[in-house]
Amino acid sequence: MDYTTLGRTGLRVSVAGLGCGGFSQLGLGTGKSEEDAIGIIRAALDLGVNLFDTAASYSTEPVLAKALRGVPRDAVVICTKAPFAISNPNSTAESAVASLDRSLKELGTDYIDVYQLHGIAPRAYDHALAVLAPALLREKEKGKFRHLGITETAPGDPEHEMAQRACKDGVWDTLMLAFHMMHQNARASVFPLTRQYRVGTLMMFAVRNIFSRPERLAATLRELAAEGEVPQALADSPDPLGFLVHAGGASSVIDAAYRFVRHEQGADVVLFGTGDQAHLSSNIASILKPPLPESDRARLAALFGHLVGVGLDAPHLSRSGRVVNR
Ligand SMILES: NC(=O)c1ccc[n+]([C@@H]2O[C@H](COP(=O)([O-])OP(=O)(O)OC[C@H]3O[C@@H](n4cnc5c(N)ncnc54)[C@H](OP(=O)(O)O)[C@@H]3O)[C@@H](O)[C@H]2O)c1
Repeated sequence: MDYTTLGRTGLRVSVAGLGCGGFSQLGLGTGKSEEDAIGIIRAALDLGVNLFDTAASYSTEPVLAKALRGVPRDAVVICTKAPFAISNPNSTAESAVASLDRSLKELGTDYIDVYQLHGIAPRAYDHALAVLAPALLREKEKGKFRHLGITETAPGDPEHEMAQRACKDGVWDTLMLAFHMMHQNARASVFPLTRQYRVGTLMMFAVRNIFSRPERLAATLRELAAEGEVPQALADSPDPLGFLVHAGGASSVIDAAYRFVRHEQGADVVLFGTGDQAHLSSNIASILKPPLPESDRARLAALFGHLVGVGLDAPHLSRSGRVVNR
């Protein structure tokens, strides 16, 4: 495993972080058992992963607690989040603190390393900054968590408006943001700020559905070609991203997707979510490989560098997983 420093938190973290949410929820979202989920976490630990990202809304805090039993507390970095509802401007500081206390109990720990507000839309940001953050920072003083973080709502904020404000406010030590081969706009709009203000970055959406389900990629490319956003040849191809797979290049599209994010300047931790042991080890191996060849990165930038909000799955999306009304 490779380790890096998570921005101004100073935490030493594995460059591959296990996401305990997403569509897999450690496999619990796809019909696997709690024992299987614990096996995924233990296997990640064995491969050197020390950062685990969960949330009140994922229902995986208790499983994470069980899997980490017996592991020295300072050997792992536990990140969790307040519920989505907290971003509602009517939510109270008391409810944020109550959720923090619940998470501490569910996780069976005295402190959380990174406590994050979950999926904060631009319209909810003022409330998060003025009401929720001060109340939570008082709890931080009591030792309940070490660092305050924030995560964006990728589908609701494809231009990273919230993230750009959050970087400058000095309150949030970490930012979780969406970045992938077909949604690259954080390169210009966010990473210069995270680096300037030393905000640690947790990268989400490296693969999601768009690169793990070929039919999803094909449907998205058909939509984009119909709008003149990508060449029609890509939509017509049975293997549109096959150009990335070659000797000296990636071994698969998923391998390419994780490596693409890992080697972006400004990306600290690449989160990956899985309920599958084989995926776990191959994803970690991908994240540890060298960058994609420069010619492939240049082609990805030329083909997709202008796209915004592609492949950010959430309930209000088109069938192809593309943000409607972007
Ligand atoms: N707003 C937020 O705060 C927010 C939003 C989204 C995500 N997140 C965080 O980011 C984490 C990562 O997101 P994600 O879970 O969607 O992860 P991801 O790594 O982008 O995508 C995971 C999806 O791809 C599949 N997959 C993974 N590796 C594969 C492989 N080698 N071959 C084939 N399919 C593969 C997984 O299914 P299998 O189970 O079959 O492997 C899963 O459906 C989440 O768990 C969560 O912690 C936060």
